[in-house]
Amino acid sequence: TPAQVAALSICARHGNKPDELLEIFHEMQHELGYVPEDTLPVIATALNRSRAEIYGVLTFYHEFHRHPVGKHIVKICRAEACQSMGTEELCRHAEARLNIPLGGTTADGTVTIEQVFCLGNCALSPAVMVGEKLYGRVDPERFDEIIAGLEK
Ligand code: FES
Repeated sequence: TPAQVAALSICARHGNKPDELLEIFHEMQHELGYVPEDTLPVIATALNRSRAEIYGVLTFYHEFHRHPVGKHIVKICRAEACQSMGTEELCRHAEARLNIPLGGTTADGTVTIEQVFCLGNCALSPAVMVGEKLYGRVDPERFDEIIAGLEK
């Protein structure tokens, strides 16, 4: 597949070095938007590592996507401080508003919602991050405003 070809050339650019696996995943995500499942055996062979090892690294780091994602990634913090400020309600609201579960992408490909654990914005919880932009004290109403402001 084209993704496998891309994976091979990215590995080659990194000299097929296993200790550059994270950089390889980052580049794949940059080029393809995510790390497709079918590239894992290709990467494993190129780096001379087991498939399980490659898979283990990929799933350990939550920043890597294993499925195609939307144009905007909306991260909702579910760690402790945000929990105590109503993030669960916010998550349920987000799921209902966008009609997708956490981790899902809207049918038009505009938005993906993800749960994360601490955005370093605990003083202003619940916290939400869209791309590089951080929002604090996000209640359902504010969430809707943020979503409404996103480009299609
Ligand atoms: Fe949510 Fe830290 S717990 S930002």
